[in-house]
Amino acid sequence: MPDSIDSLQQALEATGYFADRRLATAVFLALRLQRPLLLEGEPGVGKTELAKALAAALPRALIRLQCYDGLEQREALYEWNYAAQLLHMRAAEGRESAEQVEREVYQDRYLVRRPLLQALQTPEPGAVLLIDEVDRADEPFEAFLLEYLGEYQVSIPEIGTIRAQAAPVTILTSNRTRELNDAVKRRCLYHWLDYPDRERELAIVRTRVPQAGDALSAQVARFVAGLRSQPFANAFQRAPGIAESVEWAKALVALDTLVLDPEVVADTAGILFKQREDVAALTRDMASELLTASPLPPGEG
Ligand SMILES: Nc1ncnc2c1ncn2[C@@H]1O[C@H](COP(=O)(O)OP(=O)(O)OP(=O)(O)O)[C@@H](O)[C@H]1O
Ligand SMILES: [Mg+2]
Repeated sequence: MPDSIDSLQQALEATGYFADRRLATAVFLALRLQRPLLLEGEPGVGKTELAKALAAALPRALIRLQCYDGLEQREALYEWNYAAQLLHMRAAEGRESAEQVEREVYQDRYLVRRPLLQALQTPEPGAVLLIDEVDRADEPFEAFLLEYLGEYQVSIPEIGTIRAQAAPVTILTSNRTRELNDAVKRRCLYHWLDYPDRERELAIVRTRVPQAGDALSAQVARFVAGLRSQPFANAFQRAPGIAESVEWAKALVALDTLVLDPEVVADTAGILFKQREDVAALTRDMASELLTASPLPPGEG
């Protein structure tokens, strides 16, 4: 367990994840206070990746629950292995009393553990549980999470209450497609994950796409920062995330690009933007304006 915010930041960086001071502070407090951390932010800003990096840095096992519309408790917590229970009942038929059979079919070995239960039953030092895109699940599911988030325990009717052997480090992410329940928020620490500043984005691109070289990486970081800032940002519905910068740098390397020019920018706009209107909005003219508006200062790159 890192003993300071700095050492946590360094441990994350060693896995290739660059967290700014505020994010590192939020994660540090979540670890210290043993509270779940809710991360909200635009797509592709590193919410999911943080949980992965944290699991690698601590190190702890990563257990992941991907949320979606219609997600049910039995996929999140546990279910009984019906087929095996039926076989057991058939074998016991006539030989054992009904009560005895009922006791036997609810044994541990017929229990199928899903992510929440796996996380609670991970022995010391515990797991990292990622509850990804919780805004996609419905409100009853959020209500179901409250017991886990508040007390790191769940109740299973046939078995009773199961408490965490070691409090799992719990990261929830949301793209904010809808507002989460206040009761969920109250049980979590909260952090809004913003786009990185240019230096941090440069560090990320350099680390993730070393083949891009310093000059091209610096140009990518500057150009994307320009796209996200005014007045250019107004032209787009959705700004590119870090994931897009990384993909773009890879694409430019694949095209043997050494220096950005308006043509290559316009031709590869489909990597930066995923909406038809946005792709069309990134014209050669805009690219050229942006490239001249933010030239590389001498000595950089
Ligand atoms: N701080 C960071 N340090 C290093 N790499 C990062 C960072 N943030 C994002 N990335 C890169 O961006 C990619 C996408 O990040 P991630 O999938 O975590 O975004 P997200 O916020 O979960 O997006 P979505 O909302 O679409 O799920 C990662 O695979 C990683 O390559
Ligand atoms: Mg994600």
